[in-house]
Amino acid sequence: MSEIIIKSGVLKNLGHLVEGLLKVKTFAVISDENVAPLYGKTVADSLVGAGYRVISFTIPAGEKSKCADRFFELQNWLAENHVTRSDALVALGGGVVGDLTGFVAATYLRGVAFVQVPTTLLAMVDSSVGGKTGIDIPAGKNLVGAFHQPKMVVCDPYTLKTLPAEVFSDGCAEVIKHGMIRSKGLLSTLEKSGFDGEIADIIAENIDIKRTIVQRDEFDTGERQLLNFGHTIGHAIEKLSDFEVSHGQAVAIGMCIITRAAVKKGLCPVECLEILERLVEKCGLPAKTDFSAEEIYEAALGDKKRMGDTITEIIPREVGFCELQKMPVSELLEWITSGQSNT
Ligand code: NAD
Ligand code: GLY
Repeated sequence: MSEIIIKSGVLKNLGHLVEGLLKVKTFAVISDENVAPLYGKTVADSLVGAGYRVISFTIPAGEKSKCADRFFELQNWLAENHVTRSDALVALGGGVVGDLTGFVAATYLRGVAFVQVPTTLLAMVDSSVGGKTGIDIPAGKNLVGAFHQPKMVVCDPYTLKTLPAEVFSDGCAEVIKHGMIRSKGLLSTLEKSGFDGEIADIIAENIDIKRTIVQRDEFDTGERQLLNFGHTIGHAIEKLSDFEVSHGQAVAIGMCIITRAAVKKGLCPVECLEILERLVEKCGLPAKTDFSAEEIYEAALGDKKRMGDTITEIIPREVGFCELQKMPVSELLEWITSGQSNT
């Protein structure tokens, strides 16, 4: 797995950090229009200071940039700038920049190295780790992509200081997810002190949970699917809302719907739902949606986790413990309907 560094202020040392790891001449830094003005110069100066040639590209911010047009635009830009197989890309930004850049790196010249420099909580605790890269297509989220591990992940928690509150909340959804699937201790910490503790420790704990799972199932054929808790419904809601509902918000709603249904079916104690709903509220995330169960179900039929007529869902069984459960796709509608309301 990739080397992961978490340290406040580390951005200005990026050039030296990558020196021992990558024998490259050029770094192509890809960022978005919000992040580039804040951190682009620090990163470029650090890489230039270590002797590299740096070229930079800025994409519009937001989920809509995770698309085929931006993907090909970047490939073309790399080729026009004579980026070769012995060069590398840097993804400087949130999950959108990371997923898109990772997929460009996985495919440009049939694969070049890349470094993740995540600048959102979500990207630090989740998307920059584990090597899933990709783009959205009109039929659905993340339907085109590749597994391509970054050579290094460099998290600078200082960058979180400029994050808008609602974007920080999106990351909280993935932190809650990690607690729900594998860590009662993390849930207790979040209940007691929320995100007031040392953020670097929270990031490190979450990366540990994700890394342990990914090391056992890098290519997502079994245990890794646990990391998709709340995501089948979440991706459907993102698509239905034309990405007005953010990834973190949609995942929070998805986790709540599945957990409500699991409680009603007697599969997990009501305490699981109570803790989840308290944390979701505390983080300013939604627990419900106005989309109907039928709309969500229809939008979820294209989910990657579907295999023919079956789909694997992630079901809470105890506080801090989820299991995978294969079900006929048709059963999902009943789960969503049941999980839409508390009664
Ligand atoms: P994002 O990348 O769109 O970033 C959210 C917003 O924050 C953007 O407007 C961005 O410009 C801004 N921003 C980023 N860093 C900033 C900073 N430090 N200061 C100020 N503004 C900043 O969204 P996200 O929530 O980071 O990522 C969501 C994406 O991640 C989704 O596409 C989702 O599918 C993907 N994801 C991927 C994985 C994976 O394993 N690959 C896992 C989870 C989520
Ligand atoms: N975020 C899901 C995964 O990395 O598998």
